[in-house]
Amino acid sequence: MTQNTAQYDVCAVGNAIVDVLSPCDAAFLTAQDLAPNSMQLVDAERSTALYDAMAPGVEASGGSAGNTVAGVGSFGGRAAYIGKVADDTLGQVFTHDIRAAGVHFDTPVLTGGADQGFGTGRCLINVLPDGARTMATFLGAANQLYADDIDQALIAASEIVYLEGYLFDPAPARAAFERAATAAHQAGRKVAITLSDTFVVARWRAELLDFVTQSADIVLANEAELGALFETEDFEAAAAKLAAIVDIAAVTRGEHGSVVIRGDQRVTVAAYPVAKVVDTTGAGDQYAAGFLLGVARGLPLEDAARLGSLAASEVIAHWGPRPMVKLVDLAAEHGLKL
Ligand SMILES: Nc1ncnc2c1ncn2[C@@H]1O[C@H](COP(=O)(O)OP(=O)(O)OP(=O)(O)O)[C@@H](O)[C@H]1O
Ligand SMILES: [Mg+2]
Repeated sequence: MTQNTAQYDVCAVGNAIVDVLSPCDAAFLTAQDLAPNSMQLVDAERSTALYDAMAPGVEASGGSAGNTVAGVGSFGGRAAYIGKVADDTLGQVFTHDIRAAGVHFDTPVLTGGADQGFGTGRCLINVLPDGARTMATFLGAANQLYADDIDQALIAASEIVYLEGYLFDPAPARAAFERAATAAHQAGRKVAITLSDTFVVARWRAELLDFVTQSADIVLANEAELGALFETEDFEAAAAKLAAIVDIAAVTRGEHGSVVIRGDQRVTVAAYPVAKVVDTTGAGDQYAAGFLLGVARGLPLEDAARLGSLAASEVIAHWGPRPMVKLVDLAAEHGLKL
């Protein structure tokens, strides 16, 4: 296995969240005023009301960047995570699960958070019969991630620091974001970011574009988020614009796979076929896991993107946002090297 000199391949900073996933139909989304395929922020009251209306489902640790580092760990990569949970049951579940995935996680918990209305963040995910997911997130303790929570030594020890665009929503986290990027660059490391969601991009377009231009080396996005960033539906034009301002742009296109651009180099990688798409939650996150680990290990872009596609194909074939098999074994079965 190729090794880089860093202690960790990827250190992610994100909204630490536990998911509740339930099946639904389109009428339910309409009745609940939820925009299909989006992530919408809700307050505690709305979260409780929606939860009461949802069909029986499953609970699982989530958080976009948390899912990604859990995927990196499952590939046998060395990963770390920075995010805020409260001292409640969901916080214990989140902490257990991410550590059990082999991820280093020691951000101080928000003591007394639950009593102040900042319980561990939760995301209510309604999944249509075709697997498409719609999310309503109560940030809770994740709203309380501050710049001082950024362990700069940990970031300096990581080949890539990976940031969620979702972190632009909680106000204190934006300073944390900047601190993480600065610490990474000071140590000669790479900064990667995902655009996360079209509504997040719309809310923070100028700020995100600024950050990407100034500080990001690697950007991950799906087609819709890329279009939202440059306010165009012309994929080629948007991809070219992104590639012009970052070292590596990786754009996912659902079942049509992904396109990765670095300078003049452009690779197109197909999605792995999936017999039945059950729940697409985590597709982008697991793509990021394989892709970032591949880049951290210095693999050719095509091989990194294949690792991403493979991880995504595993997670969309079952309920929940994290892999249920060891991705390192799955990669070996498919002849992919790490
Ligand atoms: N129907 C599918 N069949 C096979 N692979 C898929 C399918 N949908 C997605 N993928 C894989 O997942 C990757 C990421 O998918 P997508 O572009 O949907 O990300 P996303 O929109 O960020 O997903 P999410 O936000 O729901 O996690 C794709 O590049 C592809 O490899
Ligand atoms: Mg996504």
